[in-house]
Amino acid sequence: MGMLTSLRALKSTSDGAAETGESEVRSYCRRFDRTFATAQGSYLIDEAGRRYIDFLAGASALNYGHNDPDMIAGLVDYISQGGVIHGLDLRTKAKARFIDVFESRILAPRSRSYRLQFCGPTGTNAIEAALKLARKVTGRSQVVAFTNGFHGMTLGALAATGNSHHRMQPSLQLPGVTRAFYDGYFGADVDTAKMLDQALSDPSSGFDKPAAILLETVQGEGGVNAASPQWLKSIAEIAKRHGALLIVDDIQAGCGRAGRFFSFEEFGLEPDIVTMAKSLSGLGLPMALVLIRPDLDQWAAGEHNGTFRGNNAAFVTASIAIEKFWCDDGLVQRIGRSSRLVRNALSKMARLVPGSRVKGRGMLQGLDVLDGKVADAVSRRCFDTGLIIETCGPHDEVLKVLAPLTSPDDVLREGLRMLEAAIVQVVGRLEAKS
Ligand SMILES: Cc1ncc(COP(=O)(O)O)c(C=O)c1O
Repeated sequence: MGMLTSLRALKSTSDGAAETGESEVRSYCRRFDRTFATAQGSYLIDEAGRRYIDFLAGASALNYGHNDPDMIAGLVDYISQGGVIHGLDLRTKAKARFIDVFESRILAPRSRSYRLQFCGPTGTNAIEAALKLARKVTGRSQVVAFTNGFHGMTLGALAATGNSHHRMQPSLQLPGVTRAFYDGYFGADVDTAKMLDQALSDPSSGFDKPAAILLETVQGEGGVNAASPQWLKSIAEIAKRHGALLIVDDIQAGCGRAGRFFSFEEFGLEPDIVTMAKSLSGLGLPMALVLIRPDLDQWAAGEHNGTFRGNNAAFVTASIAIEKFWCDDGLVQRIGRSSRLVRNALSKMARLVPGSRVKGRGMLQGLDVLDGKVADAVSRRCFDTGLIIETCGPHDEVLKVLAPLTSPDDVLREGLRMLEAAIVQVVGRLEAKS
């Protein structure tokens, strides 16, 4: 170990993440300032052996919890048998199995037909591919994206993302996106779908006809905003009417997070393109996917390529995840029960903070406490007591409950109790001050 490395190692154990040599850009490890050693199910365990209930769940990359034993066993087996780990986009047995499982267990039972495009391994790669394809197919350049939307950090996806902290204005050029207002942006009485329709119908509005309308059915990072079924249906009709493709970004809300495998399936929505990532691999391995309506699959060979297209290790675990969790309605039922439990608990907590409200749907819910400082204090207090929970929203004012979908009821209850206790403590401190 070199001098610098050993100094850093020393500092990292004494000072925490601030001195590990990692870039200033690090974020989660600032608030959750421990070194984690192991993980299992709903828990992360730090190097001192302390257990934390994980309500962050890899920002929804761990919908089935940490280190699912069947996925680990399948992966170990695959590796020990010399299975292909990296294969560009060569045909491999692992990929063939995944395609078969995805088509037979996910698409066919839902009567959906999509081509599968394996792009680079993270969500933002899927968004880039989807936007590029929509532009190619329609010959149009603008894409409609919504206030408070979050689609990733590469420039095309960032252009569609609302958050000004990430957009780094004015030094980045982020062209090609027309911003529209998400459902409820001006309150329940303003129909923002109608506004968009009117703007797109008016040749003098300055709104160019878009290649696509890109949306999350529940905005995860933007504050756990759930669009109403009616608004989503209207947007789908508007897209059709104006010759734009409907792209649903299911990277966070998909894989069961909002209640079903696809966040939109219960509303009868038929997106032209769907982007998926995060929990798709099941085990938290990088893997992203673009689902393309077959007639829109107008890519030329290699027109959108990359070295890491199709992670074979992830194909193995993703196939196991689908066979384990999506072959009957057991998980959907469980998500229904757990999400009611979360909603009831959050509604009770909402009474502790005047003006606060519960947001979201399925297991993508949050408590808007109206003030980023309050949410931050609650999150930190939770961490002190052994619960990991993040904040989101324009001012980080929403405490976001992203527990694994597989969390046992007693763990879920315990985590929610810790959250309530932290709120009581923080609100009590604020009241004592005023
Ligand atoms: C809805 C949505 N789209 C895209 C992304 C980007 O995914 P990734 O961070 O894997 O690039 C995220 C990440 O949080 C997301 O929540």
